Amino acid sequence: NSTSNQLLVIFGASGDLTARKLIPALYNLYSDGHFPENFVVLGASRSNLSDEDFRKRVVYESEFLKEEVKSKDKEFIKKFADTMFYTDLGDDYDSEYSGLAKRIKELNTEYKTDDNFTFYLSTPPSLYEPIAKNLYDQGLTKGSGGAKGFRRIVVEKPFGYSLETAKELNAGLQKYFKERQIYRIDHYLGKETVQNLMVTRFSNSIFEPLWNRNYIHHVEITNAETVGVEKRGGYYDKSGALRDMFQSHLLQIVSLIVMEPPINATAEEIHNEKVKALKSLRIMREEQELFDHTMKGQYIASSINGKRVKGYREEEGVDPESKTETYAAVKFFVDNWRWKDVPFYVRTAKRMPTKVTEVVIHFKTPHHQVFKNQDINNKDNKLIIRIQPDEGILIKFGVKVPGQGFKVERANLDFYYSSLSDNNIMDAYERLLLDAMQGDTTLYARADEVEAAWAFVDPILEYWAKDVNVNTYGYPAGTWGPKNSDDLIEDANGWRNPGEL
Ligand code: BG6
Repeated sequence: NSTSNQLLVIFGASGDLTARKLIPALYNLYSDGHFPENFVVLGASRSNLSDEDFRKRVVYESEFLKEEVKSKDKEFIKKFADTMFYTDLGDDYDSEYSGLAKRIKELNTEYKTDDNFTFYLSTPPSLYEPIAKNLYDQGLTKGSGGAKGFRRIVVEKPFGYSLETAKELNAGLQKYFKERQIYRIDHYLGKETVQNLMVTRFSNSIFEPLWNRNYIHHVEITNAETVGVEKRGGYYDKSGALRDMFQSHLLQIVSLIVMEPPINATAEEIHNEKVKALKSLRIMREEQELFDHTMKGQYIASSINGKRVKGYREEEGVDPESKTETYAAVKFFVDNWRWKDVPFYVRTAKRMPTKVTEVVIHFKTPHHQVFKNQDINNKDNKLIIRIQPDEGILIKFGVKVPGQGFKVERANLDFYYSSLSDNNIMDAYERLLLDAMQGDTTLYARADEVEAAWAFVDPILEYWAKDVNVNTYGYPAGTWGPKNSDDLIEDANGWRNPGEL
């Protein structure tokens, strides 16, 4: 794939995400030689900064590029910093954009970016539609300006707060941009191992024949973080784990496990299959089912390695009586031919003992037990896909213990991505930015995907919000969640805590 000359406008350029993720990702693209010949970044936000101030902030004095600035050749860094410009949007994102339009046109002419513009919205979602409209009003979209080059718009998550708000956001953006010009970020899709889910399934003939209700007993997904809500208490308290992680990242992973093989690897075909998968998740409507199949929890103060760790309700920006979940677990079924009656268990939480995301496919035990002295709780085959860290794949299978008789033990076939000779794993933002710059939407979420995911999550959120019978169980920071969390999962061993061999 080649990258055309272009101008990237970042809205929210003085914000945290720009400095922490976007500019370092751009830097990596630059040092890996992925910049097109003519490339310009124009930061835009409400802060009053000059081009030089902006370069200082996101490059020369950035804590996220400290090492690079210190260790690399000065000219090399300067060449990168010199691609950055800045324009002040005035008091508010909804004011008129004539200054921005003028700057874009000047830079486009001076740096020969061929009238190709990508707009990256690193702003709260409430600004998506106003920004899109203002761009339209200035003749900066395809529809309004008769552009020769391309126009793309990239938006961050959270994409909506509910099904209704997601639909509104989609409709708002689609007034000014066509769906194929809209790139909805889900940074989990930028992770190598998430992409590898499809490759593992569809480039091998040894997994797919077993990938169904005849051989799979249940599927388990764990997403754990050690961090708490950090400085994002204000946002998080209104969101919670189900909106923050489950609706987006985890349902994306689910869709890749559940989907049927696409007819080819084009964005369109892959999205079509993912949407079908998400639409087949059985939406829970009965209170009893919602009660039995969902669980929420919240971390409470505890001591980790002798250091006191705050409870969620003590975090800055969090309501001291908050019932927002930092732990969410959901059991559900997929109503289609392949998956009928196979339970899926998915959990996500902050302040767990370790940072890890993994998928465990639990296969059924052999239907006839030949060897009698097999450990009853440990005789299934498991395929464990480690999304992060230690990216890789582990298969557990039975082997004979050397010696007399037939004693069976589990052995591991373990593959680590790091053992590949070319194991330079691209950071998720770097991958996604490059794809947007090249016009590839495969790893972005399509409107109907996002809406199908919300349609599944909405009833759970509504049920939790009603607050009758729904407990928010406390769990000490640094533990694997509420004491009774195994109640949700019928597996005799409860949840598999990642790291166990
Ligand atoms: C973000 C969530 O989307 O993903 C954060 O808003 C979370 O709350 C983060 O910490 C986790 O991402 P990763 O890549 O560190 O697993």
